[in-house]
Amino acid sequence: MSGKVVLKKKRRTLIAPEISETLVTCPGGAEYALADELRVLGTTDPTTEGAAVRAQITPSDVPRLNREVRTGSRVLIPLARFQAKTFDEVYRGAAAVPWDTMLTPEHTFMITANSQSEALRDHRFLAMRVKDAIVDRQRKYGNGRRSSVDKTEPHLIVNVFAADTTVEIAIDSTGVPLHQRGYRVEAGDAPLRETVAAMMVLESGYRPGDTRQFLDPFCGSGTLVIEAALLYARRGPGTLGRTFAWQRWPWTTGEDRSADATETRGASGRTATSRVGTDAHQVVAGGPPLIGTDNDPRVIQIARRNAERAGVADLVRFEVAEVGQSLRHWTSKGSGVIVTNPPYGVRLQPEGLSSLYSDLGEVLREYAAGWEVTIIAADSRLVRHTGLRPAEHHTVFNGALACQVNRYRVYRRDTPRSGKE
Ligand SMILES: C[S@@+](CC[C@H](N)C(=O)[O-])C[C@H]1O[C@@H](n2cnc3c(N)ncnc32)[C@H](O)[C@@H]1O
Repeated sequence: MSGKVVLKKKRRTLIAPEISETLVTCPGGAEYALADELRVLGTTDPTTEGAAVRAQITPSDVPRLNREVRTGSRVLIPLARFQAKTFDEVYRGAAAVPWDTMLTPEHTFMITANSQSEALRDHRFLAMRVKDAIVDRQRKYGNGRRSSVDKTEPHLIVNVFAADTTVEIAIDSTGVPLHQRGYRVEAGDAPLRETVAAMMVLESGYRPGDTRQFLDPFCGSGTLVIEAALLYARRGPGTLGRTFAWQRWPWTTGEDRSADATETRGASGRTATSRVGTDAHQVVAGGPPLIGTDNDPRVIQIARRNAERAGVADLVRFEVAEVGQSLRHWTSKGSGVIVTNPPYGVRLQPEGLSSLYSDLGEVLREYAAGWEVTIIAADSRLVRHTGLRPAEHHTVFNGALACQVNRYRVYRRDTPRSGKE
């Protein structure tokens, strides 16, 4: 006997963090539509909070929300919220989170940080202090070893957000933001963000299995028509083959890593597509095709390929047409819904934009009386040229661009309209 004591290496068991709340982020202005979606998806108490909605959930909601939510950008799982005026306080708050039970030194992580705090405005330093807290805690409880940072495919994405003196640390279950559905590999010059397009479709009153005509006469790469088709068919936009950050979580194992594991086990069967309650992913046949038209043949080709990739080519039709010709043709068949994003001169500079809008107002009154019309534009002066008065309007951010979403009920010029237009 040498008298040497051999210390047995302690095997560490990973413990999943408690998942009882989510903060789903979204484009600014889409939070009310997102709160509606989260309510229908069965989360508890969805409450809007800036460009986000907070709600109570269970762990099995995480894959489902990532698959089904149309207007959300990221599904975050908050771990800690505390007051901090200095970076040392941030470090102490972050060090109180049991990172060592979520990550072994073999697992990797990365930090994303945003700051709207005067005192903590250096978001890179904010990220660095949280990183220090994570690795120091790992070293302290894990034989001096720590995880590496991996900015491409980490096992854990830690999200830090500072606003005034409140810091919230969350894990990101999404990874690549949800607007990147995977179908829009190609786009025209001024594409609409998919989440904003989905918000417009939901707010337009269009519903799954809707028997009314859907039309976008300025369809570009087809975003609005494709989002409407996914809604029509009750297909979650996260079911198009992409992966999510939660699938790499260290404590997620085996079959749980499959993006549709909880789906095949029959999650809740609800999809946030309708207030009437439906079976998830049931494709409804028999309605009219959803129509997108544009006067640029190049973008029509792109829209058709995007629809193929989104798996909705059988539900949609994209044709080259001038706006007037399109409205004349497609509105002759009963009532319907027009949701559109005309050129607005910020990124596109076609000549005569104001006359394009006044002509649009004319043809809408002439051909689309009784139709529900939703128009997004970055320039509210341009939409006024339609001569239509919106029943509702609000601001939404398409990326960094503040846009106005206007909803109209169109009446013929000679119809009495009790002050609506
Ligand atoms: C802002 S873009 C639409 C982008 C689209 N929502 C997307 O996500 O790709 C406006 C579109 O209107 C089309 N357009 C411009 N003038 C038109 C006209 N007179 N008739 C039909 N389309 C027109 C342009 O070709 C362009 O694709």
